Amino acid sequence: MAPVATTDDRESGVPTATVDRIAALKAEKAAESTVFNPFYSPSIGDDGDSTYKFAEFKPSFPDLSWPPLTEVAVSDRGLLADPEKKSLFSAASKVRHLTPAIGTELLGIDLRQLSETQKDELALLVAERGVVFFRDQEIDIHGQLNLARHWGPLHKHATTPIPRNGMEEVHIVYNDASRRPDPASFSKLELWHTDVSYEIQPPSTTSLKVITGPEYGGDTLWSSGYALYSSFSPGFQKYLEGLTALHSAVAQADGSRAAGLPVRREPIETIHPVVRVHPVTGWKSIYVNPGFTRRIVGVPKAESDAILQLLFRQIGENPDFQVRFKWEPNSIAFWDNRIVTHSATFDFYPETRHALRATPHGEKPLSVAEYEAQTGKVAKDRQIEIWRQKGLDPVSQVAVSNPTKAARYND
Ligand code: SIN
Repeated sequence: MAPVATTDDRESGVPTATVDRIAALKAEKAAESTVFNPFYSPSIGDDGDSTYKFAEFKPSFPDLSWPPLTEVAVSDRGLLADPEKKSLFSAASKVRHLTPAIGTELLGIDLRQLSETQKDELALLVAERGVVFFRDQEIDIHGQLNLARHWGPLHKHATTPIPRNGMEEVHIVYNDASRRPDPASFSKLELWHTDVSYEIQPPSTTSLKVITGPEYGGDTLWSSGYALYSSFSPGFQKYLEGLTALHSAVAQADGSRAAGLPVRREPIETIHPVVRVHPVTGWKSIYVNPGFTRRIVGVPKAESDAILQLLFRQIGENPDFQVRFKWEPNSIAFWDNRIVTHSATFDFYPETRHALRATPHGEKPLSVAEYEAQTGKVAKDRQIEIWRQKGLDPVSQVAVSNPTKAARYND
């Protein structure tokens, strides 16, 4: 039945149906401007459960003001490690590589018991494999922070939550039933990121421990920057090696302010090489990410957009570069933020997922030319190195297949 106009509406000359529609549109608009993008606006959800056993690690946003970060000396512990990692591997009951490109799970190790030698070897393993997983770990946040400190000075995030107990070096990941991430507010591609890549010295061997999680859902995916570099033709690799890109903290700071939250350090923008070399492995890796990289410097915008789109889509869509981890409470992942990109899934609403991150600073990213000038070594392509070790001729592996013969992946 059509709505009946009221007296008031007759006086103003606007039918009630139109008034209602305008009000509905206004409400929709207001809701749109407050949609929750889980990447740029941190989760402020709290289901109010007073019996929750990790309440002291629930998110808090103290209104603090920190000065800009300055450069700090970092010496990479992986450089001291035994290349065969005998001390670490002999302590493990199993070393399980999850894909050829990325990801290893170590079984039978208690992270609380690691010796200094094993910590160095773990840093090297993470640098080689991109991400390393452990399950059933009792290590607490103090142990996790100490381990991270072994690898570098700790980063404090300018916008994401810290625990209620005030530990400023802990980054909290927390979602519960009180708020559903709105799928209208973000694309899956933009969730892929390397942590705080806009910093002058972005992170190295970063760890995340899940303390509460859903029975299923909330997996995290990582994508290898080494494998992405190796996948391109030599000419394109060379071209990328000459480029730099701008990484920006602005969207993250704006997201916090829009949510009414404090920004503890003013956002910065930093230019890094598009191809960086890992200081320990000497392997080349693509260092751009959808979350924070905004443009390639010094090339026409159309060119920058096209290159970044190609790189972003390969990061997010090429399964050959990726590993996906299904967490359990007390699982912990260590990833080398210099050479991988990652993305959390937000498929577990209304379950609670709660995790604690420790984030050491790495070095200022080195381009291929900088690495080679500083070390006197030649930067390498990881895939070519692996083929060489297997006795294969890398040149014939790289050659593009015979164009007269159609690829038959579906045979
Ligand atoms: C992060 O980006 O550090 C968190 C990833 C996750 O929640 O799985």
